[in-house]
Amino acid sequence: MDRKGKQIIVSAVIAGIVMLLSGMALQAKDACAGTEVKDVIEMKNTAAFAKHKMGIVMFDHKKHTDAKPAGHAVACGDCHHDKDGKPLALKAGDAVQKCMECHKKAEKPKKEKGVSAADYAKLEREYYYGAIHQNCIDCHKKAAAGPVKCAECHPKKEK
Ligand code: HEC
Ligand code: HEC
Ligand code: HEC
Ligand code: HEC
Repeated sequence: MDRKGKQIIVSAVIAGIVMLLSGMALQAKDACAGTEVKDVIEMKNTAAFAKHKMGIVMFDHKKHTDAKPAGHAVACGDCHHDKDGKPLALKAGDAVQKCMECHKKAEKPKKEKGVSAADYAKLEREYYYGAIHQNCIDCHKKAAAGPVKCAECHPKKEK
């Protein structure tokens, strides 16, 4: 075999090893997808909102679950629940479904006249928009702690 032929074989082998390794890395990433959660989640759900009109909320997931006094000591099940809406008992590292998997509707609901507040709240929850706002804001209201005003969660957008 001439030198050129050897070179081609060597590069083919190297390319093969690189592909194999990156394949393994991808698989490893897949295996823990969903169980990984960032300390601070950039709330930018593009499936729910084609365009974000408000500033992007940076949700401090870790601070909400951390023990007091550094954190707010909120239980996983206060936010994550099952298909019947029952709180999930989770521990760090458990996988969860995204809110959008069940609160599926995109964009915002329209408020019709004559609908009671309770009925509207239920309708609104079919939308990711309503589910996320009710979860965050209702707790902050109930606890009389945590932001309830728009600009406290949505930073002002630079115009
Ligand atoms: C406790 C925090 C919080 C407060 C208070 C809050 N929001 Fe939100 N809002 C969110 C989160 C989280 C999302 C979901 C964003 C995502 O996942 O893409 C959201 C989504 C939105 C969206 C859809 C996305 C967009 O940017 O167009 C709109 C519109 C919105 N909020 C308007 C408001 C308005 C108006 C108020 C005040 C009446 C308000 N929000 C108060 C947390 C909050
Ligand atoms: C204050 C509400 C809240 C608490 C408490 C909370 N989470 Fe979350 N968590 C969220 C929200 C909101 C998201 C983003 C979900 C989405 O994008 O649909 C999330 C995302 C996640 C994700 C990533 C999901 C994905 O596919 O990206 C995991 C894993 C997770 N949480 C696990 C936990 C565990 C375990 C606990 C308890 C130790 C916990 N969470 C406590 C609100 C909360
Ligand atoms: C596996 C499906 C599923 C997932 C995932 C899910 N929900 Fe729900 N959620 C439900 C069901 C079912 C109910 C009860 C019916 C209802 O009240 O709309 C519910 C109820 C709620 C309620 C009303 C609770 C109350 O006590 O009034 C809020 C708020 C809510 N979900 C927010 C969220 C948020 C935020 C997430 C993501 C962190 C999420 N949901 C993930 C299915 C789900
Ligand atoms: C079950 C209760 C609960 C839920 C649900 C909840 N929070 Fe909070 N949140 C708190 C408490 C308690 C504080 C601390 C308030 C204080 O110390 O004044 C807080 C504080 C905050 C703050 C102020 C900064 C900080 O981290 O201390 C932000 C912003 C915030 N929450 C955003 C959110 C968003 C966005 C969601 C929904 C994805 C959410 N919260 C859901 C209880 C909750």
